[in-house]
Amino acid sequence: MAASFGVCRLHFRALGGLDKFCLGLEPQTQVRFTSTTSALKAQTEKKTAKAAKESRTFQAIQEERKEEAERSVLISCPPKINEKKFIDYLSKHGTINKHFFYNSYGANAVVEFSSRESIASLKESINIPAVEHEAAVPFKSRLLSLKWPGSQSSNHPMPKFKEQSPPSINEITQLLSERDTMDEQLQCLTETLQLTEENISLRFLVCSLLRDIAGAYFPECIIRPFGSSVNSFGKLGCDVDMILDLDGIYATSQKKGSGLSLEYQVKRGASERAVTQSILSVIGKCVDQFGPGCVGVQSILQARCPLVRFAHQPSGFQCDLTANNRVAMKSSELLFLYGKLDPRVRPLVFSVRCWARAHSITSSIPGAWITNFSLTVMVVFFLQQRNPPILPTLDRLKELAEKLLQEFFEFYGNFPFNKASINIRKGKEQTKPEMTALYIQNPFETTLNISKNVNATQLERFVALCRESAWLLQQKEILKQSSDSPWGFAALLLPSVTSGAGVKSRRKRKLEPASSRIKNLLDSLKIKGGETVAKKGSANARR
Ligand code: GTP
Ligand code: MG
Repeated sequence: MAASFGVCRLHFRALGGLDKFCLGLEPQTQVRFTSTTSALKAQTEKKTAKAAKESRTFQAIQEERKEEAERSVLISCPPKINEKKFIDYLSKHGTINKHFFYNSYGANAVVEFSSRESIASLKESINIPAVEHEAAVPFKSRLLSLKWPGSQSSNHPMPKFKEQSPPSINEITQLLSERDTMDEQLQCLTETLQLTEENISLRFLVCSLLRDIAGAYFPECIIRPFGSSVNSFGKLGCDVDMILDLDGIYATSQKKGSGLSLEYQVKRGASERAVTQSILSVIGKCVDQFGPGCVGVQSILQARCPLVRFAHQPSGFQCDLTANNRVAMKSSELLFLYGKLDPRVRPLVFSVRCWARAHSITSSIPGAWITNFSLTVMVVFFLQQRNPPILPTLDRLKELAEKLLQEFFEFYGNFPFNKASINIRKGKEQTKPEMTALYIQNPFETTLNISKNVNATQLERFVALCRESAWLLQQKEILKQSSDSPWGFAALLLPSVTSGAGVKSRRKRKLEPASSRIKNLLDSLKIKGGETVAKKGSANARR
């Protein structure tokens, strides 16, 4: 961040000099220089705006995106669409700030107007459809369908569709193998997997559409996304975690101490949890019965954190709606801040998450697996434990970006999980307060373990894969030979030798000598009474 501000300051100084230089030139030359100057100015303004945008607080970013979503509509479109005609048609209701197209069960468009009045004007011009043989729930949402009478000429260019899904592991492996350095691979991985601007807008829009339903009961409520949709570690295709925020209801303008006062009569529940369950149960029913595009609604009210789970077809998102979950919002902000602290944090988290997914350490199905959230906290803890934990010199930075992943694997390949817990509040390992396989203290509710679900088998797989990957990275075998075979980080995504299934695939890629050496090494690395005999790994890892 500081570096980008520094760059901006330099640009301003350079521009000042150019302005003075232009004064003594021929008019024609001046025009050329002026246009160069204005181009440079525009570029500088853009950079300044970007820097200003990047320095905004987490809350300011969320607020801006929420507000944009409230001025947006989601429109299901026919397969062939004349973009210009479409935009002209909608512009009758006001200025359009931005729009984009994407595919999910057919073509869809997100259109953001510059004012909310446009949405009101648009809604006034729309009809509830007459459906044959069935009846429609007359709920006027901002989820619309575009009817285009007659066939459209195919001469017009088709709009560009924005990709909303991540590439497959095979595609990633190929893409990474074409890079020149492992540093570039990790950067490329982050850029390929991270949520796009459009995808984030769509997430906020889905929350806003849902708020319109919940708002029928609680007009002051807000539905906010949390988790990987906003913590900067989200991967394309990840779920949308939402929180029904009712805090606005408690805000009051009534002055205290004026004698008389009024309060609302309210229905009481046995506990805060019981009230949350009853609110979610009703909202869940409304989503199921009135929410256009919401399918497969399940109310999972007995979970530790009660939730309503559903699929939102027009966006293609799997959604989890919770309520009264302030801690989760705080955790999201904390991770967001960690992601900003150092440019190496996000690539490291993305690569560890991708590696874990490729080896089925994590899964989209709930169970005894390590979750992405736990993995992210583990990366943060590892970075806190590094010595020194502060930023190194620039010369070391590039080298370290590659080394960090190897050290992450060494660190957790040798971590005393049997007795120590991970505690990012203290930045130090602590004695485990209970005998669960993996103990990661919840940074906000410090008596809770965020990885209580993980069983010993899953943890052992994780540790074994960490050791194997650390070993592979220590060896030069996976260094680039040619771009047709996976190398570097791409090689780490190949099936593991420890699982057996991977031996063949590594052999196919001429890595057989490494495979047998790894197997031997892994055999020699078996933990003896909780103490590791890893050689170089243990020396580095526990700094
Ligand atoms: P994805 O796998 O990309 O969805 O990552 P995620 O970070 O969104 O994880 P997930 O959807 O499982 O959970 C959403 C958010 O809920 C997390 O980011 C955390 O803020 C919070 N969360 C998840 N698991 C726990 C837990 O065990 N304890 C606590 N306190 N919060 C959790
Ligand atoms: Mg999530």
